Amino acid sequence: MVEVKQIPPAGEPGTNGAAGHTKGSGQDESQPIAAPSGPVYQPRYAHIVGWGYHVPAKVITNQDLEQIVDTNDEWIRTRTGIAERHVAADPKETSVTLAVAAARKALEVADVPASKLDLIICSTTTPEYSFPATACLIQDALGAHNAGAFDLSAACSGFVYGLSMARGQILAGDAEYVLVIGTETLSRIVDWTDRETCILFGDGAGAVLVAASEVPGGILAVDLGSDGSGGDTLIVPAGGSAMPTSLETVSSGMHYIKMDGKAVFRFATRVMASATRKVLDRAGFTTDEVDLVVPHQANIRIIQNSVLNQLKIPADKVFVNLERYGNTSTASIPIALCEAIEAGKLKPGYKVVFVGFGAGLTWAACAIDWRTPVEKQSTDWWKSTRRQATYGAAAARSMWKRAVRWVYDVLPTDPEAPARDDGKEREKDKIPQEAPVKEPARSKEQG
Ligand code: COA
Repeated sequence: MVEVKQIPPAGEPGTNGAAGHTKGSGQDESQPIAAPSGPVYQPRYAHIVGWGYHVPAKVITNQDLEQIVDTNDEWIRTRTGIAERHVAADPKETSVTLAVAAARKALEVADVPASKLDLIICSTTTPEYSFPATACLIQDALGAHNAGAFDLSAACSGFVYGLSMARGQILAGDAEYVLVIGTETLSRIVDWTDRETCILFGDGAGAVLVAASEVPGGILAVDLGSDGSGGDTLIVPAGGSAMPTSLETVSSGMHYIKMDGKAVFRFATRVMASATRKVLDRAGFTTDEVDLVVPHQANIRIIQNSVLNQLKIPADKVFVNLERYGNTSTASIPIALCEAIEAGKLKPGYKVVFVGFGAGLTWAACAIDWRTPVEKQSTDWWKSTRRQATYGAAAARSMWKRAVRWVYDVLPTDPEAPARDDGKEREKDKIPQEAPVKEPARSKEQG
């Protein structure tokens, strides 16, 4: 396990990083730049130190889909590589419940309590609600009472976008531990009568814990991209401000995923290779040096056309599990990462690339110098009992806070005024009566 240490507080001795230089400052560039006075910082790195995933139990196979739409197993396998997908069949399974299960596993692997989290970033296209943020509900369920939390909308690229935000927070010195989660219940926004989309998607969640460390390595380079001109090629048209939900939008199925598959395919094969090249360049790695690529799991042909054919990275270095999960959007890379670790495909010292693309259109890649040991730790009975107890305490704390809020709601803010639920109307709550309008006297002609 990477030992994560705090940087010394400002003012304490430490090594200084490369001195910055502002161009156009009027200084003579041939002169050495004076070291800045004030606090001296040690270099910081952002490492993935915990990982976990969770998928719903219900599996829908290609044969099952043959019963619903005009398709067949052979077509789906050859065109996509997908054989089955997990689906949140139980209405109680939501993007939050999947995310919380994945997050708890990630915290357990890292052996870090939720109370130490500084930030929770939840990437999702299927949030629990429009607001509040899904990340806040996860924060409450984990009992991460010291963490900020927000949702990130970058579709299937969102997990790598989240890693980039986490890295930024850590390198800036604003956070020690950031939880990045990708969670989806796409089955809730898939049109199960549309054979072009319903065969592709699945549900699931993956989470990683990113931690600050002095150990060189970790997430070294990131490339984020977008092209909003292709926004309509993969879209849920209704439910936002452009097309608010109405009887009409629901009856015409505008709240479901609409996709121009061919356009997305062309875009994906182009950006996967270029984004990978960019991050490798920035990290100082060559394609030959890459030990593992974990691509977004959308379609085996996209992976073959981009990572394998264009970048010439051999198949045994590219982790693929879409056959069993389909496209779980932003959850696909962290789920694949966890399975790659389970399969022994990742070792400390490996040079790793995550690369994804999705609606927006968006794309994102990152290059990692992986340093975290990956051996499964034996489960410590006492630690796991204590961890369960903290989640129980988190649920109790949440209920208590709701109760306190309820009490404040029924208690009068003005101690002189009667309580609001006593049935009596308070003076200040009374609706002012308008002065009675005098009826004009009617003339005889008007009757
Ligand atoms: N079963 C059987 N036939 C199907 C089918 C299905 N599920 N879906 C489409 N077809 C048919 C089409 O109607 C078409 O028939 P036609 O030739 O008689 O008109 C034929 O199969 C070929 O369709 P086409 O759209 O050319 O297939 P394709 O090879 O482009 O594959 C996708 C379709 C959707 C699999 C592919 O375009 C793709 O994966 N695109 C990227 C989508 C993606 O990754 N989205 C998520 C991004 S995060």
